[in-house]
Amino acid sequence: MSTIKLPGLVDMHVHLRDPGQTEKEDFYTGTSAALAGGFTTVFDMPNNKLPITTSERLEEKKEDAKKKIVCDVGFYFGSLGENIDEFKKIKNKVYGLKLYLNQTTGGYIIDEIALKKIYDNWPNDSLILLHSEENIIDRVMNEVRRTGKRSHFCHLSSKAELVAVIQAKKDNLPVTCGVCPHHLFLTEKDVSLLGAFGRMKPELKSEKDRQFLWKNLKYVDVIESDHAPHTLDEKNSDHPPHGVPGLETTLPLLLKAADEKKLSIDRIIELCYTNQAHILGLRQDKNTYIEVDMMEYIIRGKDLKTKCGWTPFEGWKVKGRVKRVVLRGKKVYEDGKVLVKPGFGKVL
Ligand code: NCD
Ligand code: ZN
Ligand code: ZN
Repeated sequence: MSTIKLPGLVDMHVHLRDPGQTEKEDFYTGTSAALAGGFTTVFDMPNNKLPITTSERLEEKKEDAKKKIVCDVGFYFGSLGENIDEFKKIKNKVYGLKLYLNQTTGGYIIDEIALKKIYDNWPNDSLILLHSEENIIDRVMNEVRRTGKRSHFCHLSSKAELVAVIQAKKDNLPVTCGVCPHHLFLTEKDVSLLGAFGRMKPELKSEKDRQFLWKNLKYVDVIESDHAPHTLDEKNSDHPPHGVPGLETTLPLLLKAADEKKLSIDRIIELCYTNQAHILGLRQDKNTYIEVDMMEYIIRGKDLKTKCGWTPFEGWKVKGRVKRVVLRGKKVYEDGKVLVKPGFGKVL
């Protein structure tokens, strides 16, 4: 069995749920899942139970994270259009501003008036990240065109969405985009079997959409897990929330695809490390890396470190299990075990 060495991977889109929803995940379990999945740096979204829309909440969240994390974590700020005054205070304390233009977990959706106001006021040199589905992307693109502000379109799931971003790139707009593993490996057909465990935003799409994403992967900047854990009880309830965990399945799924010659290992490094570091302006320590055993194994929810304990990829045969993770020269994870105390990770 061969072992490969990769840089410590970066996931620019996770929901660690802490503070406020630690029954789903917390800073320790979420960053443990990150290490188990080969990620040494993750970026946490602001749609907490109380959204991270004030500098006080941001400070509290970062202070709390400092004591619990085992990999490095950066944060994004949130806005409903009411907190423009906070932007200057927090701009050097976050890696970007996340906006929700469609209904999703938290319900922090903004309208077009707020969108304009926010684009006018968010500092020029900082990133804006968007949850914008289908034709809503066009509205955002108008703002990008008008203001020239750097914008990242999260979790593109369909042909129409990717076409809109490809056009914007051809027009030289300052845009990047991400695609999630679930949209690359599952389709709407899987929902009949998976039920609530196959429901997330954006929803799974058609086989045609899925193939379009694969065929046009050269236009995609990053693979983001959109790790969005919810408890088994919540998923089994009458009104299950949207979202699926992904930190521990992203790399083995991509390595399986590499084994099937759908993309190269070098391209995985670009999508899960180089491009992410570039977008977020990260410099990684040269003593941060992971070692992956290129063995086949079966994904099992019960083996995962995420607190939610399930995965939409239950029973999938994949190739490539993270054996060891070294962060800033220190062995932090080996053979399924986190080897450092909570707080070893850095708040970025
Ligand atoms: C995410 C969540 O649960 O926080 N859910 C999801 O289905 N993707 C929110 C989001 O990324 O839209
Ligand atoms: Zn989203
Ligand atoms: Zn998300």
